[in-house]
Amino acid sequence: MSFYLTIGAADPIELRAQSEALRASCRRMMLHTVQPYFEMRQALLSSWPLGMDLLGREHILHTSALTTMMPWLQEDLADPAGHYWGYNKETGGLCVFDPFDEQRFTNANIAVLAHSGAGKSYAAASVVLSGYTRGIGAIVIDPEAEYAGLIRELGGTYLKLATGSGHAINALDPLLFAADPDEPNDQLNDVLDLIGLMCGRLDEVERAQVEASIRSVLGASEGIPVLGDIWRELERTQSGSRVSTILHRWVTGDLGRMFSAPTNVDLGAAVVGFNVRDLSEELIPPAFLILANWLWAALRRERRARHLLIDEVGLLLEHEPVRRFLIRLARRIRKYGGSLILVSQNPGDFFETKDGAVLATNPSILLLGSQKHSEAVKLQKAFNLTDRQVNYLETADRGDFLLVAGPNRAPIHVMAPPWMDELIVRSRGH
Ligand SMILES: Nc1ncnc2c1ncn2[C@@H]1O[C@H](COP(=O)(O)OP(=O)(O)OP(=O)(O)O)[C@@H](O)[C@H]1O
Ligand SMILES: [Mg+2]
Repeated sequence: MSFYLTIGAADPIELRAQSEALRASCRRMMLHTVQPYFEMRQALLSSWPLGMDLLGREHILHTSALTTMMPWLQEDLADPAGHYWGYNKETGGLCVFDPFDEQRFTNANIAVLAHSGAGKSYAAASVVLSGYTRGIGAIVIDPEAEYAGLIRELGGTYLKLATGSGHAINALDPLLFAADPDEPNDQLNDVLDLIGLMCGRLDEVERAQVEASIRSVLGASEGIPVLGDIWRELERTQSGSRVSTILHRWVTGDLGRMFSAPTNVDLGAAVVGFNVRDLSEELIPPAFLILANWLWAALRRERRARHLLIDEVGLLLEHEPVRRFLIRLARRIRKYGGSLILVSQNPGDFFETKDGAVLATNPSILLLGSQKHSEAVKLQKAFNLTDRQVNYLETADRGDFLLVAGPNRAPIHVMAPPWMDELIVRSRGH
């Protein structure tokens, strides 16, 4: 095939400037251009719609290379009934599609990966808001307390999970373990995992002792058990042991009021947010596990389309049980109509472990934003990006993302409509 570009200008200086600009942008697309010196007339005529090629500079090309030269031939993701994502930077077309479309995607999960300040939270919030306009609710785990205003403006519930906030989730809430014929009902192991996280690992002997206590507490039929009951049982049989000493902290005082008391929060509202900013570092993994387990149970109880947004998930991936939980969630949430949105500023977090890589590759939809070279190369390997796409990531501005949606890949700019932009920006107090 032959590909000729003709430019016109009012005078030679402008012509030179334009031709330089055109060649520069061709170089960026890895296109090597040649100027037809002494054949200008043939070249000009060849580029007119006369149906003749007087230059005859033919090349054999891959069709994939060919399409990059004709961006206007790219298929836009345009499904009027879908979420609004932004506009395609190559075609200018709007990017609208439904992440819950089961024919197109194997799941509705979304990963947003970009470095700090690249506009990840903004992009995630705009997805949630787009969903909201279509009647799709959301649960937001908010480690930076930046979604409060937005959730309140939508009439949702915003809960602060921190010592002294008065909100409680019973770690042994029976709802967490509601029988589900398709899910192995493994309350014992879940509670063991949880206590392991609280105590920083259990050795074989401790595991056996804790297991015995859990069994006897869960076995007793009267009332709804709380974590304090397990501690009491442990204290009765293994008084003063390491586990019982550490667990004591979790069942008394502020911590006890938060995790060892009857659940008093409800997921009734369409949009619910959990502020976990003020949880201290050591509390995050166990608190997250309780919260996540409870959310999971809530999702299963009532099947409907909704987003579950976890911002800054990187911090959580360090902890093995949390990682395992997230994988389980990512794999099964589709069945309950949900869409997991994971946001992380360090894609390396994902690729350092096998579990992490599963999490990064599970979502059908990716928004890859501005990256450092080393990170971009990791993404290239994981997602088969072309050199040009890697280059795009390295030079992306704030709000620019490479959208990978099933087989489609498009450079988009997340541009929320004015009302949405105002809501996002105002609610975050910028
Ligand atoms: N597409 C966009 N259009 C307009 N403003 C944007 C866009 N994306 C981000 N911003 C603004 O840029 C700033 C940083 O964005 P944001 O907080 O979403 O980045 P982030 O990647 O989540 O950062 P962090 O890693 O710190 O959480 C915010 O003030 C936000 O309002
Ligand atoms: Mg953010």
